[in-house]
Amino acid sequence: MGALLEVEDLYFRYHDGTPALNGISLSIDRGEKVAILGPNGAGKSTLLLHFNGIYLAQQGKVRVAGEEITRDNETRLREKVGMVFQDPDDQVFSPTVWDDVAFGPLNQGLDRKEIEERVFQALQAVDMWDLRSRAPHHLSHLSYGQKKRVAIAGVIAMNPEVIVLDEPTAFLDPAGQESLMEILAELYQRGKTIIIATHDVDMAAEWADKVIILKGGKILAQGDTMLLVQDTLVKDAGLRFPVVSQVFQRIPSLVVRPLPRTVDEAANAIATLLPDRKEKDNHRIVS
Ligand SMILES: Nc1ncnc2c1ncn2[C@@H]1O[C@H](COP(=O)(O)OP(=O)(O)OP(=O)(O)O)[C@@H](O)[C@H]1O
Ligand SMILES: [Mg+2]
Repeated sequence: MGALLEVEDLYFRYHDGTPALNGISLSIDRGEKVAILGPNGAGKSTLLLHFNGIYLAQQGKVRVAGEEITRDNETRLREKVGMVFQDPDDQVFSPTVWDDVAFGPLNQGLDRKEIEERVFQALQAVDMWDLRSRAPHHLSHLSYGQKKRVAIAGVIAMNPEVIVLDEPTAFLDPAGQESLMEILAELYQRGKTIIIATHDVDMAAEWADKVIILKGGKILAQGDTMLLVQDTLVKDAGLRFPVVSQVFQRIPSLVVRPLPRTVDEAANAIATLLPDRKEKDNHRIVS
């Protein structure tokens, strides 16, 4: 059994000659949670658009479940890999929110009852069921964050194996970001493979199994979230350390290695530094 998604020496140049991808190779296993990071213009969105055949490789290969994506099978493979675009205005276009989410399942040829159930579940998941009769394409009728939620629901409703999300937390309010994390956790529980492009290093540190850092259309590094606290790499990629890691860095006497990257890791590290139970209960930190 090979990787679920494989990219081999991928190159891509836009019509105006801009070289966006310059030799990308990566491999993603079933059930992995992958965060792709890197500065503006690094090639993240361009790469994601190759994962379900919206862009076809100009040089190199992209394979889904061992099958190379080509012009002949891109439609079929698109059912396996669902994509939430960076800009929901590129994705949300039907007369109502309900129709928009039903569009994918309808095209999959599902029966009416199944479609209704899928749309209900997906809109409940993104907390947009109450707005199901609104017109999403009309800018004045939905906020940007609400359109983003509709776009996410549209992909959930198609039940793809791989879910790719470009900047999923951008424009979502804190509660919306939290519920997105819950949705991603639930999809992960259901065995989905999830790939996101994000600038949110805190979210990547909390969430990802694998981190891929892009710059100039090339992979600078790939590995676990330890990459997010590698000083030279982080500077080179225009990133920053996760906030919890920065706190530990600021207090030189608090030597905890590896640097905590998640809230849980930080809380555990602090708890072990506390001299006794009583002080832990008072939440006083003594270094
Ligand atoms: N339609 C296009 N035509 C020409 N060049 C493009 C087009 N879309 C993107 N590019 C260029 O391709 C390169 C990669 O862009 P891409 O959008 O993939 O970057 P990104 O990492 O997603 O950036 P961001 O963080 O801003 O979303 C950039 O140099 C960009 O200017
Ligand atoms: Mg982008």
